[in-house]
Amino acid sequence: MARRVTKAVLPVAGLGTRVLPGAKTTPKNLLNVVDRPILSYIVEEARAAGIEHFVFIVGRGQGAIEDYFDSIPEIEQALQAKGKLDILEDVRRDLPEPGQMSFIRQMAPLGLGHAVWCARHVVGDEPFAVMLPDMLMAATPPALSQAVAAYEQVGGNIVVVEPAPEGEAHKYGIVALDGQDGRLNRMVGMVEKPPPGTEPSNLFISGRYILQPDIFEILETQERGAGGEIQLTDGMANLMKTQAFHALEYEGTTYDCGDKIGLLRANVAFALARPDLADAARKAIAELL
Ligand code: UTP
Repeated sequence: MARRVTKAVLPVAGLGTRVLPGAKTTPKNLLNVVDRPILSYIVEEARAAGIEHFVFIVGRGQGAIEDYFDSIPEIEQALQAKGKLDILEDVRRDLPEPGQMSFIRQMAPLGLGHAVWCARHVVGDEPFAVMLPDMLMAATPPALSQAVAAYEQVGGNIVVVEPAPEGEAHKYGIVALDGQDGRLNRMVGMVEKPPPGTEPSNLFISGRYILQPDIFEILETQERGAGGEIQLTDGMANLMKTQAFHALEYEGTTYDCGDKIGLLRANVAFALARPDLADAARKAIAELL
């Protein structure tokens, strides 16, 4: 039986160029979607999938992420004293059990592959999840739970994918499949940002993975690829020479919150999906239109 996945690596050390200047002093994954940081939704998704340890790969100036997941007694005491118990409960919702989170400095943003490699000592010799926290996925069951279910079915390595918008496949990491039958298919290759017209499929790697720990040894010597960065995609392509990879086309909607309009879309969609806010949100949007 496949070994249970209990650790997730969350790389957040990128520069967030596409959402500057906002991301200059606030790590982009702490930007709000409605009233919670993007990371709050990602951690909730991970917990639902059975994750018990969260390994954040952070950069300089991102101490606010650790602070967000720590208790702040002044705020909690003030809310308690004022009887604002609903807000207190909301504030405490994201807190981990002590010891459930690790924070590792990447030291230089050399690429996603390098960021994942930084987690090797904490992950150790077991399969683990990687979650790109910019990619907010609205799905039932949650996207990582769908990936874990696929992993329990076929083992090996799982890459969550979805169709790229028409004519935009060259902007993403794209998978090549050994035939397509249903949503879970064996992969035969993958390529990061293929030149237009050379894409092996229209399915892009959308930000949730389950990987075997053998990836770490490969990433250790992985050369720089597209954009001069150490690419996770290149490392996975190497691992695929010896291990099975399956692409799971998950059911749900992805919002790329590392992009201005993606973040705006997420805010609108999540506000409209909130029973306590939907009516007011719809009215506000209608007025603006
Ligand atoms: P992105 O390329 O989407 O994020 O990386 P970025 O570099 O922050 O954004 P732009 O392109 O400059 O706007 C995907 C994820 O991988 C992390 C990022 O933080 C993001 O969550 N990442 C990327 C790292 O942790 N380290 C890196 O060296 C590169």
